[in-house]
Amino acid sequence: MWRPPQKIKWKPQPGRWPSPEEARHARLFSPLQSGPMQLATRTWVPAMVPWRATEDGFVTDDNVQWYERFAQGRPGAIVIEATGIRDIPSGPLLRIGHDRFIPGLRRIVDAVRRASGGETRLYIQIIDFLSIRKRPDPHKYLGRFLRIHDGHRQALGLAGASDDAVRQRLLDLPEAELAAALSARELEALRMGERERVTDTQWPHVRELPQVLPGLFAAAARRAREAGFDGIELHYAHAYTMASFLSALNSRDDGYGRTLDGRLRLPLEVFASVRGAVGDDYTVGCRFLSEECIPGGSTVDDTMHFGVAFARAGMDFLSLSRGGKFDDAQQPDIGASAYPYTGPSGYECMPHFTSDEKGPFGRNFEPSARIRAAVRAAGLATPVVVTGGVHNFEQAEQLLADDRADVVGFARQSLADPDWFSKVRSGEGAQVVLCSYSNYCEAQDERHEAVTCKHWDRVDLDAPGIRKSADGKRRLVPPPWAPSGNRHRG
Ligand SMILES: Cc1cc2nc3c(=O)[nH]c(=O)nc-3n(C[C@H](O)[C@H](O)[C@H](O)COP(=O)(O)O)c2cc1C
Repeated sequence: MWRPPQKIKWKPQPGRWPSPEEARHARLFSPLQSGPMQLATRTWVPAMVPWRATEDGFVTDDNVQWYERFAQGRPGAIVIEATGIRDIPSGPLLRIGHDRFIPGLRRIVDAVRRASGGETRLYIQIIDFLSIRKRPDPHKYLGRFLRIHDGHRQALGLAGASDDAVRQRLLDLPEAELAAALSARELEALRMGERERVTDTQWPHVRELPQVLPGLFAAAARRAREAGFDGIELHYAHAYTMASFLSALNSRDDGYGRTLDGRLRLPLEVFASVRGAVGDDYTVGCRFLSEECIPGGSTVDDTMHFGVAFARAGMDFLSLSRGGKFDDAQQPDIGASAYPYTGPSGYECMPHFTSDEKGPFGRNFEPSARIRAAVRAAGLATPVVVTGGVHNFEQAEQLLADDRADVVGFARQSLADPDWFSKVRSGEGAQVVLCSYSNYCEAQDERHEAVTCKHWDRVDLDAPGIRKSADGKRRLVPPPWAPSGNRHRG
């Protein structure tokens, strides 16, 4: 896991919590009404994959209880984890690529409505991703999987040699010399695991993404509406397909890359198709990056342009994240997949408490504020959701007071304490369990393990009816909170 070289240890601060009276008048707890998007408060739980779906993508009881527990805290909105739009196996990630997934998803909708008394709006993040393979055993990769060609023979001075002889020579080469014998992509496949890119237009299934994706996203959106969600968040962020179309590194030459408008073309076509499927009275927004945070990646000037284009096209909200790319991910262990939150761009997405002089809190504020300002300068009122290191009331309220955001996202903080919202609103902020930004949750996500939080996953493990991890060592749902200090959990 990459960390900035300065290694300053930052401590999240509770700041000053509001009295119930002050909270009643706070911007953070005021409603937002913007087209079909109606929030009771300007608080938002961004998408977080908790690894609780079945291997074939269905909703489990654990999923239902997870979101029900978040809804008990009554945030303005919850966005359900990245949910796959294709009907293909993708491990224990939620899927929405077929009607058979609708009944399970509807269970989450019903549970959230019940638990929040109908107050919390529920959106679902829908995603497409390309294939990525695990980092191979070098002996298997060089000895079996690598397709041998004349480029290898030439590089090794083995003209006319058999495939087996070339493989043997590659296996004998010291690691440092492999770079001269393999292409950049072959070397990447060996060191990181093979990864498809949107620029791999030599492959028909990648070339045809612009023809295929609008329909897949639209069908998923139609299912989301049928399941009862209040809206859709199109996942245009981080390391995945749509973000790769927006990327400054997208060099496709078929009109879907290279220029700013070329990079925007598919994201806008997907949106138009989704809008056509769900209608104008349904909330549709997207999550995209304020900056890619990789060498040669999209800058804020690019993303200001994107924000204005999305707002002009009629999106109902813009939710901003940053970084989280495969391009600078750290090398995974053999047999593991690269994880896009391990390099410098990953750090920008989910910064750890060990940070540089800028600190881990609010790294996304300034670029997001510039995007919001560009949207406003274009005469558009589209709400902007800003996330990144927010954990105390003053931080959140200031973001709104300074006109830098319209809605505030609390990801890891709501995982540490899903009751943050109701505690702060009722004047019981002193009872908030602050996130320590140790990235315990992120490490579980990287290992594809059920995500929990170190602040609560061992509390009252013997209480009756507790759902636990397979090894029985961690609870899967945060303990309940009884207001008015009846019970303070630590
Ligand atoms: C366990 C975990 C899973 C996440 N999964 C997603 C996801 O599915 N989609 C997404 O856009 N962001 C995802 N994120 C990123 C968060 O939504 C958020 O942008 C990030 O944690 C920074 O916000 P924070 O500082 O408030 O935690 C995830 C974060 C965590 C910790």
